Formats: sequence, structure tokens, C-alpha cells
Amino acid sequence: MSYEISKVVKGESIDFKMPSPEFFEAIGREEGMRKLMYDFYDIIYESDIANFFPQEEEEFDEVKEKNTKFFIQICGGPKVYEGQTDGIDLNEYMIRLHDDFSIYEKSRYEWLGCMEEALRKVEIEQRIKDDFWNYLENFSKLTVNTFSDGSVYYADYNPGQ
Ligand code: HEM
Repeated sequence: MSYEISKVVKGESIDFKMPSPEFFEAIGREEGMRKLMYDFYDIIYESDIANFFPQEEEEFDEVKEKNTKFFIQICGGPKVYEGQTDGIDLNEYMIRLHDDFSIYEKSRYEWLGCMEEALRKVEIEQRIKDDFWNYLENFSKLTVNTFSDGSVYYADYNPGQ
């Protein structure tokens, strides 16, 4: 089933596989990815997690652009994001960037829900979307760091190819 979400289990190491470059081609390379990610952030802006993001338009636009570049790179496109990471491994950098925010499982569900809404609008073979979703669904578990009992916890992970 597409767009499924499994729960974060505290203490469980997260396996994830980078998205296939097939998604980058199917979405329409840089311009297609930009369109998808700008749409996604417009949905975020109307969502229950809007408060996590900058309210000032220029700052919000900057997040949209950085997010676009990150996804272009991890989907096998040109390496337009890595200059931001100070030589730190890209996955590690992206996980640690989220440590600055208290992200609950509920915030993750909302984030994934916004992405689902954006993805449903693009006409790409479901099989290719599913591969991309699989990355998002697993990787997003690593951004969750706060639990309903108030505890803070950072999961271990194993990236696949
Ligand atoms: C697959 C999962 C996710 C990926 C790949 C991802 C990726 C990104 C990227 C690329 C950025 C911009 C980084 C930069 O400034 O250079 C970002 C920022 C951010 N993300 Fe995520 N994200 C994910 C999940 C989440 C979730 C679940 C939340 C929950 C609220 C979240 C909240 C944020 C926030 C608050 C920012 C920073 C906004 C700011 O700079 O003020 N992210 N994320």
C-alpha cells in the first residue's frame, strides 16, 4: 500500500535506502523538483506544523530553496547542496540539523501528510513514487527526537545504497 507510515519505536535502529535517481528523472529534474518542493512547503505553511518554520517570507523562501537543493542532490541530481555541510556526511548533517527543533511523532505524521498531498498531485508512476516515499518514511523517523513522556532520544541508523 502506498503512503503507509510505520511508527517510530524507541531503541530501534533505522534502516533507510537513498531514493532512486528514477524519481529525479520522472519528476522533471531540477525544475520539477523545485515545483514539487515549493508546493510541499506551501502545504506546510497551512498545516499544523507551520509554527516550526520561519514566518518571515524571505527566510521561508530560503528554507524552500535549501530543501529543494537537498532533494535534488539526494535523488541523484547535481551536488548543489553539499557546500552547506562543512564536510559533514550529508545524512548526518541533515539529521543533526533537526536536533534544534523538538519534533514529536505527531509532527512527523503531519510532515509526511503534507508530502503525500504534494506527491498525489504529480503524475508519476506509483512504483517510482513508492520508492521515494520509502526513503521519506524511514528517514523522517530520524528527525523525531521528543516523545510524549517528555523524553528526548536520538535513534541510530544504517544507510543503504
Ligand atoms: C524525510 C524527512 C525530512 C527531510 C529529508 C528533511 C529535510 C530538510 C531540509 C533539506 C531542510 C532545510 C535545511 C537547510 O536549512 O539547509 C529542513 C529544514 C527543516 N525541517 Fe526537515 N526534513 C525532514 C523531516 C522533517 C520533519 C518530520 C519535521 C517536523 C516538523 C521537519 C522540520 C524541519 C524544520 C523545522 C526545518 C528548519 C526550518 C528553519 O530553518 O527554520 N523536517 N528539513
